[in-house]
Formats: sequence, C-alpha cells, structure tokens
Amino acid sequence: MRLNSPQINLITKACMKASRSLIRDFGEIENLQVSTKGPGDFVTSADKRTEKIIINELQKAHPDFGIITEEKGIINESNNKNRWIIDPIDGTMNFLNGIPQFAISIGYEQDGEIICGVIFNPIINEMFVAEKGNGAFLNNQRIRVSSKKKIKDALLVTGGPKGASKIKDKIFSEYINVSNKVANVRKFGSAALDMAYVACGRFDGYWQRELNYWDIAAGIIILKEAGGLVDFFENNFSSSLKKNILATNSNIHEELRELLNKKDIE
Ligand code: IPD
Ligand code: CA
Ligand code: CA
Repeated sequence: MRLNSPQINLITKACMKASRSLIRDFGEIENLQVSTKGPGDFVTSADKRTEKIIINELQKAHPDFGIITEEKGIINESNNKNRWIIDPIDGTMNFLNGIPQFAISIGYEQDGEIICGVIFNPIINEMFVAEKGNGAFLNNQRIRVSSKKKIKDALLVTGGPKGASKIKDKIFSEYINVSNKVANVRKFGSAALDMAYVACGRFDGYWQRELNYWDIAAGIIILKEAGGLVDFFENNFSSSLKKNILATNSNIHEELRELLNKKDIE
C-alpha cells in the first residue's frame, strides 16, 4: 500500500527537492572540517537553504496555510486550522560533524492535530511516512513498533540536555535511573529519527525533555500509526511549543513513566 493524500504527496515532494541541496551541502562538510574557518556558518546557511526550498514548495500549493518552522518562526499565524511544522535539519550537530544521522522533518496539522508526517534521512535514503488511519511506512514498506514487553529487555534512546539547559542535573539523574533498569540506552542526536526508529522497532522507547514542537511533530503521527504510544510528561505549560516526550512501543510505556517519575537516584 502507498499513502497518497494530497498533503503526503506535497510534503514528500518538498522533502525530495530540498534533499538535493542538502546532500550537496553534506558533501562539502568534510572539506570544511579541515579548514580553519570550520563548518559552523556553512551549516547555518544549509539549514536556511533547506528551509527555504521546503517553504516555497508548500506555499506554492497553499499560500494561506500556517507554518511553524525552526529558522523562520511562525508564518500566517492566524491560520491555526491548517499548519505545516518543519525542521529543515534535525540533527544539526551530527550534520556539522559529517555524521549521516540527521533528517528533514515535516508534519501537517489540522485543527490542532498532527495528521500526517514525513521524516527523511537523505544520506541513507530512508523515508518514514504516515497518515492518520493509514499506517506508517519506511520506503513504502509497512512498519510496526517492537513487541518487547519488559523494560529490562528494552533498548531505549534519549537526548539532551542542551548546553543551556537549567535542569541538567535532573536530566542526568533520570538517565542514571533509567539506564540502571533497561538493556541499554543510546543517544543518537536527532529527535525526529529517534522517534522514527521507535516506530520501526529499532528502539523500544524514547524519552527527552525540552524539545521543540518541530523536532517531534512528524514523529508523533509516524509512531502512533506504527502502533506506538506518545504522550508528554511534566508538560511545560508556560510555552505551548516546549515538550517533554515519552514515546514507546506502548508495552513498556507505564514502566518507563514510573522510572521517569522517580525522584531519587538509586
Ligand atoms: C536537536 C536534535 C537533538 C535533540 C535536541 C534538538 P536540531 O534538533 O533533535 O537530537 O537532542 O534537543 O534541538 O537542533 O538538530 O534541529
Ligand atoms: Ca533543526
Ligand atoms: Ca530539531
């Protein structure tokens, strides 16, 4: 089965178009690593270039739709009925270091609910796509979350804290609590791909604090449609865009939540 709603067609097309310049830019990184200037500024412009291509493609079809995007912020703010949520490069630090673990992430929200999304790693050519009610796919093959039942057998993924985080100690103690109780924990550096990897069963669960909506919007629908469970723990109500996510194969969800709610390090 293939997904082919107009929105899916549009976001996959925008992704493919933007990925051409992103692949070229990634090819340049290696040269820049060894230059004295370093790749920092170049990555910022790669981010902006990618975002611009995506926005242009989406706006050609729907000039009036709202857009929330990492670099440009909010466009057409008054339209909160139909919105695109875009992260042009999720996993910038990996990109900057020449590590092919990053993705373009685009979600589509209708009346406040994400109903379809695409996460695309253009370097290894993996495209995760999902649409409400129609399942989740990796390169057109149906995907499902893992079937592991016990948290002690689980391979989890997490991320953070960011350099500027004010709750680093809390995040580190959660990390210790959780890693003492599971098979292992990874930190891969792209929230979007972390979620997509739970969706296709590579990881059994994912949690992270202090994310932005664009990091996870597409991942939410991809994981749900793959049979997973996504919710938020300790939501930061002062900002509707900051998220503390808990995303699992559903079987280990409550066990993981309990570990995260534990106050003391064991
Ligand atoms: C980041 C990645 C990373 C996560 C950070 C995000 P960016 O997004 O998703 O995995 O740990 O919190 O900010 O900056 O690479 O788009
Ligand atoms: Ca980004
Ligand atoms: Ca991001």
